[in-house]
Parts: sequence; structure tokens; C-alpha cells
Amino acid sequence: AQLRRANNVADLRLMARRRLPRPIFDYIDGGADDEWSLRRNVTAFADYQIVPDVLNDVSSIRTETRIFGQPSRWPLMLSPTGLTRMFHGHAELAVARAAARHGLLYSLSTMGTTRLENLAQAYAGPKVFQIYIFKDRGLTAEFVARCREAGFHGLALTVDTPVAGNRERDRVSGLSLPPKLTLKSLFSFACHPFWSLPAMTGSKFDLANVSHKVDALASGPMSLFDYIGGQFDRSVGWRDVEWLAQEWNGPLAIKGVMTPEDARRSIASGATGVMISNHGGRQLDGAPAPIDQIQAVREAVGEAPDVICDGGIRRGSDVVKALALGATACSVGRPYLYGLAAGGEAGVERVLTLLHEEFERTLTLAGVNDIASLSHRHVRHVRHRPE
Ligand code: FNR
Repeated sequence: AQLRRANNVADLRLMARRRLPRPIFDYIDGGADDEWSLRRNVTAFADYQIVPDVLNDVSSIRTETRIFGQPSRWPLMLSPTGLTRMFHGHAELAVARAAARHGLLYSLSTMGTTRLENLAQAYAGPKVFQIYIFKDRGLTAEFVARCREAGFHGLALTVDTPVAGNRERDRVSGLSLPPKLTLKSLFSFACHPFWSLPAMTGSKFDLANVSHKVDALASGPMSLFDYIGGQFDRSVGWRDVEWLAQEWNGPLAIKGVMTPEDARRSIASGATGVMISNHGGRQLDGAPAPIDQIQAVREAVGEAPDVICDGGIRRGSDVVKALALGATACSVGRPYLYGLAAGGEAGVERVLTLLHEEFERTLTLAGVNDIASLSHRHVRHVRHRPE
């Protein structure tokens, strides 16, 4: 009933903040360094106006599309996010089920807390697995085989994490994996009884997809930074993308592409799309907002590849702007995590419902009855600097 009172993503964020222990909320909400990119991802949308048509029969509106070759009820998908069980005991499955009910594509993170086989078994909807090229290429190849076997429809290769970003909020809160009790965090945890610690600690909490390879995890809690830092391979290059594309031989998006040159190179290396992303402002602070890169990226790759705008979407109208600039679809991370933390599966559904209603209402008001007819003339760039 409380969820019904949430009118937008910002309301659900506040509900999540009340419900979660502070270190956990900050892990979701925060970004790298000064969080400039984190803020810019969101505020950049204010630099675009939507220029409406009128008197253009909007009694029914076509919003269906395809992303990663899969049908989607409207051009939105759910970004991969790690450690989901820390936010709600029902974890990835709750998110995937809500996505399926909305006819949207779900992506599972390598750093997720549900085994990919278990997710695929419990959830028949369209799904993407977010993969890394690890130091151990054998581990990456193993993931490819497991994803194929389990029936995943696409892969998203994350390339913006050669090292872990500098998340200062996590340093301050001392976030560790699994959540560790310090005097300070104990106080915060004790003040948030709705968030149930038992679901997150002990045997139920682990990085289900990689833990069999990570001996250190078994030997006790370690810092998130240590763990993640140890997995990434700074030597990854375009040859590795070619290798992965051949190995997988299916829909593959490179996640973390920012420039038209790298977008073109992604497609030339065998990818079928790109996710324009700065990892939600969690990696390179100072990186431009995804919305500002869409036009150039689309011009570089032509019409066919998926161009997905990932990051900063907080309103359905943001999706309209991204599409008008040339995106195939948008992808959201934090919005559904706020919903999950606020109310589990129902909370995710609430977020998706609100965004969908906003999207359709915006199209209706803009006089657009088919997303295929959205074009540059529906959007105008302005220099808007809020105080
Ligand atoms: C992420 N993101 C992410 N990306 C990825 O490729 N692998 C991962 O494991 C994670 N984990 C993760 C955890 C949390 C808590 C957040 C908030 C984000 C980044 C994610 O896929 C996406 O790029 C951003 O969340 C998009 O920005 P918004 O929608 O949060 O503004």
C-alpha cells in the first residue's frame, strides 16, 4: 500500500533510503570520486527539450521493439547490478520476475548473487548475462558455455572496469563482502529492522557465479575493493572482443562504450550493439553523460546495431529523448534497485509501472503514435544550467 504512494523514482529512492542501512544505501546510490558523472548522467537530460507534434491521432501508440534480438514491450531494459541480495532477500529473481511481467529484458551480473542456471530455471523471460573478460580466459569461456546451455539470449561485455572505481562513500562506510558488522554499521543495521541481515550473511550470501573460482572468498570476509581489483585484467583489448564474439556467436553488446570510434570498432569486432555507459558514474568520474553521446554513436554505427543508453534515466520522458536522438532503447540500474529495496518484487514493479506510464504519456503529449517515427526533430539541445 505504501508503494502506491510513490509517484516517481525519486519517491522510491527515499523509501529505499529509509529502509536500508546507510552503508548499503550508499553502495547503490553512490558514484566515483566527486560524483560529477553520477549527477551529470541525470541532469544532462534537462539539456534536451521535447518538441511536440499536434493533431496526430494518438489514440493508440506503438511501443514494441527488439533489444538483443528479443521482443520488448517498450524500449527499456534492466541493467546488470551485482550483490543484489544485499538489498532484498529475494534478490535477482524478484527483479527478473517483475521485468518479465512488464515484457522487458533482464540482465544478470557476473557479480550477482543468484547462479545463472538457477535464474534461467526459474525465469523463462528474455535475459542477458553481463560478462567480463577475466585474467583467466578459461573462466570467461566457461561462462559463455554455461550461458548458452542455460538459454541466455545475449551477452553484455562490461569494458569500463580495468580497475575498480574510487567509491569514497563505500570507503567511509567500510562496506565489505559479505556485510561485516562494525560498531558503526551495527548501529545503522539495528535501526533498519525491515532489512533482514540473515538473508544477506552466512552461506546464502555469495557471488554465486564466481565463488567456485574465488578461494579467497571462502576464507572469510574480504574487502569488496580487494576482491574486484583482483579479478580485472587491464590488458584486455579488441582481440579479446573478437574472440568473445566468435566464441558466443550471438547477440553481444559492449557495455561502457562512450565514443563513436569505439562504437564502430565494437561492431567491426563482432558485437551486435553497444551500451553507451559510464557505469552509472561509478567508474571514471568526469566521463560524459550517455545521453550526450547517443547522436554521434548512432551516426558512427548506422541503423542496424543496438545502441542502448545506459545511465541517468529517472523519468519515462528521458527514454523519449534518448530514442529521438537515435537510441534503440534505454537501460536502468538504480531505479529498479530503489524499488527492490523499498518493496521487493512489488517495488520493482512499481518503478517499471511508473516509468512506463510516464513514457506513454510523454509520447501521447508529444503527438508521437509510433516510436519508429521519433526523430531528431522531436528533440532540441539547449544550454540549461539549473542553479
Ligand atoms: C552497477 N552496475 C554494474 N554494471 C556491470 O556491468 N556489472 C555490475 O556488476 C554492476 N553492478 C552495479 C551495482 C550497482 C549497485 C549499481 C548502481 C550499478 C552498473 C549498471 O549496470 C548500470 O550501468 C548503471 O546502474 C546505470 O546507471 P543508473 O541507471 O543507475 O543511473
